[in-house]
Amino acid sequence: RAAADPYRPEFHFTAERNWLNDPNGLVYLNGTYHLFYQHNPFGPDWGNMSWGHATSRDLLHWEEHPVAIPCDEREAIFSGSAVFDEHNTSGLGTAGNPPLVAIYTSAYSEPSPLAGRQAQSLAYSLDEGTTWTKYSGNPVLDRASADFRDPKVFWYDGGAGSYWVMAAVEAVERRVVLYKSADLKSWEYLSTFGPANATGGVWECPDLFELPVDGNPDETKWVLIVNINPGGIAGGSAGQYFLGTFDGVEFRSVSTVTEGFQQDGSRMREYGWLDWGRDYYAAVSFSGVAGGRRIMIGWMNNWDYAGSTPTGGWRSAMTLPREVSLARRDGKVVLRQTAIDPFAEQESRSFSLGPQALAPGVQDLPVAAAVARIDVEFEPGTADRVGLLVRAGGAERTVISYDVVEGILRLDRRETGQAGFHSTFPSVEAVAAPLQDGRLRLRIHLDRCSVEVFAQDGVATITDLVFPAEASTALAVFAEGGGAHLVALDVVGR
Ligand code: FRU
Repeated sequence: RAAADPYRPEFHFTAERNWLNDPNGLVYLNGTYHLFYQHNPFGPDWGNMSWGHATSRDLLHWEEHPVAIPCDEREAIFSGSAVFDEHNTSGLGTAGNPPLVAIYTSAYSEPSPLAGRQAQSLAYSLDEGTTWTKYSGNPVLDRASADFRDPKVFWYDGGAGSYWVMAAVEAVERRVVLYKSADLKSWEYLSTFGPANATGGVWECPDLFELPVDGNPDETKWVLIVNINPGGIAGGSAGQYFLGTFDGVEFRSVSTVTEGFQQDGSRMREYGWLDWGRDYYAAVSFSGVAGGRRIMIGWMNNWDYAGSTPTGGWRSAMTLPREVSLARRDGKVVLRQTAIDPFAEQESRSFSLGPQALAPGVQDLPVAAAVARIDVEFEPGTADRVGLLVRAGGAERTVISYDVVEGILRLDRRETGQAGFHSTFPSVEAVAAPLQDGRLRLRIHLDRCSVEVFAQDGVATITDLVFPAEASTALAVFAEGGGAHLVALDVVGR
């Protein structure tokens, strides 16, 4: 595989063949994580949208299954979610064999009488996701809208009662709409949120969940995820989040920077972004994970150029799954993300450096990697810039640099290799990452065609695709404008 397909990731899900986009129906049941996804079963471009299906027991090794919910001549199967209906509230299973229920968007076309509309529909499985049946009463929620989509359903159990809640979008209006239901079949309107913060593109793929702050169960916040395209922080597609309260009826944001529909570009950097790179979109979380863990996956691509990426018969990968939590930083509550680590089980380090001075200049490392986890910690000292080169070779390099004066971390993929397949692909991403105790800590995951950077324990992240030559696997560290201190560096990989 490697020689013929230098870009195919090892630990990031890709379909064996053909197109994929958004993760759908993320649900954990009986030891198995289910990943459904927007999929064209017939080609490497967007179309014939259906739900593909893969499963994993560790979120790193995935097994692809036959298409779960296929499109037909009347409807495309757009994004949505899945829940385990444990008490058979829907009546689609039995008390002894409750159903898995998928809630998806029917995007209707001729000859359907609903052609041109998007409405919400159900499909169910009585064999743990192996086979699926579309519900005969579809659609279950129709607002006569052309852009009503991406339902995320969860079980609410709080002051207002116990029921299913659906968050979906009126995409063009930049609104999240909330509904409730006792049985997943009949839905009652609750409230609307938005437009707010980033509104430079359509709102898609929402999610809503509660998390403790710094692990304290007595202090929680609700997190509203809103993916946006275009109008993302790095250009094109991205995900933003709002923090606030949810009383079972209404989400109230405490993190809205500007009210109203007017896009105020100068404030973009104040919004809550899930990731500051180009390739983290349509991110949503798993339902049903035990122990209050909240794990999200994004589509590792950007609608700006998704149809042009040079990967042959398969197109697009998911990101590594990320566990998300809330942490307080400088008095402000922010989202913190940790990727599921492909090398967590591996004892042996392929390379590590202890504390040492870093003279000005580039220092090549005697280790090479295209699939790796890199942990590095710097004290900038008198340097203006410190950082790493990854996937380097010949004229190719991906530059991860920290501007000490500005406190800004950058990822530069302009010279990463194949970058000319689309005019918007060459780019430099930036995120504020103030030093903590005088230190910059980075964890970087490389997987053939991707670089995912988690800074300062995951409070700032940058995810970017790169398409270097297979032989460009060199690594280096650098300091500029003065000497720095390298606290530690660990590389585990192949
Ligand atoms: C997001 C999205 C969703 C839609 C799906 C269609 O990438 O546009 O809003 O349901 O893709 O494939």
